[in-house]
Amino acid sequence: MARCIGVLNYKGGTGKTTTVVNLAAGLALHGSRVLCVDLDPQGSLATCLGRRYTYSLAHLLLGQAEPQECVVQARANLDMIASDSSLLQAEGAMWRMNDNRLARQILTSKLRILEPRYDYIILDFSPSASILSESGLRYAHELMVPASTSYMSLVGIRQVVETLKNIGQAPGHRVRLYLIVPTMYSPRIQQDREVLGILQRHFANRVARPIRQNAKLAEAPSHHKTIYEYSQRSTAATDYTRLVERVLRDG
Ligand SMILES: Nc1ncnc2c1ncn2[C@@H]1O[C@H](COP(=O)(O)OP(=O)(O)OP(=O)(O)O)[C@@H](O)[C@H]1O
Ligand SMILES: [Mg+2]
Repeated sequence: MARCIGVLNYKGGTGKTTTVVNLAAGLALHGSRVLCVDLDPQGSLATCLGRRYTYSLAHLLLGQAEPQECVVQARANLDMIASDSSLLQAEGAMWRMNDNRLARQILTSKLRILEPRYDYIILDFSPSASILSESGLRYAHELMVPASTSYMSLVGIRQVVETLKNIGQAPGHRVRLYLIVPTMYSPRIQQDREVLGILQRHFANRVARPIRQNAKLAEAPSHHKTIYEYSQRSTAATDYTRLVERVLRDG
């Protein structure tokens, strides 16, 4: 059965998309069959992976294309369903549906059709609490919460606690496992070490080893490359490989 992992944090810019791209790429290199799905109308996933597409998630949700038609092969073992600003219209249509529960089930029912082809389905959440975020929460079994340690410490911790609290209250969610991924971590900066320490004390073994701050991670998307393609020897590639190993172990 496919493992459905949602990568989520309602705070923006914490490394969600970076984590989706490189976790997916690492799992695919390991031989797993991976589908990543962009739930964000900013549409960063297709940009990062540098692939064109005809049908996006909006087409899938609106029933304008079959699930398989919306899937684009991005790399060996790595497929994606892309998004762009047309997702806002699809979300509008979902809001207008009379049956709210049914609207939030559309994503699940469409992705279920694709599940037999994959070992992992990874969702890149938008930073806002939209109807699609709720739909993603209904679908995901596991959550990964990238949290920036370089952000002001108290806010950094609070963002994780708030996110997990919101999920606990979300109706119909089926999350059974979560993992906090400290991102943009600079071991030389005292505040970063403090934030990491607090996270570890608070969440114990649900905290992954941190992804260090590394300029290669910020550069790779403009070359439409994963970190393994852009800088195989970087600390960032090492850190994401560790995360891949952790996910494989948790399974
Ligand atoms: N470990 C890191 N070191 C350096 N830069 C990073 C790191 N992780 C992510 N970045 C950069 O930080 C920025 C934000 O990352 P990303 O887009 O992955 O965040 P996000 O949580 O998906 O944002 P949004 O909430 O807008 O979707 C990007 O420019 C990305 O390249
Ligand atoms: Mg993003």
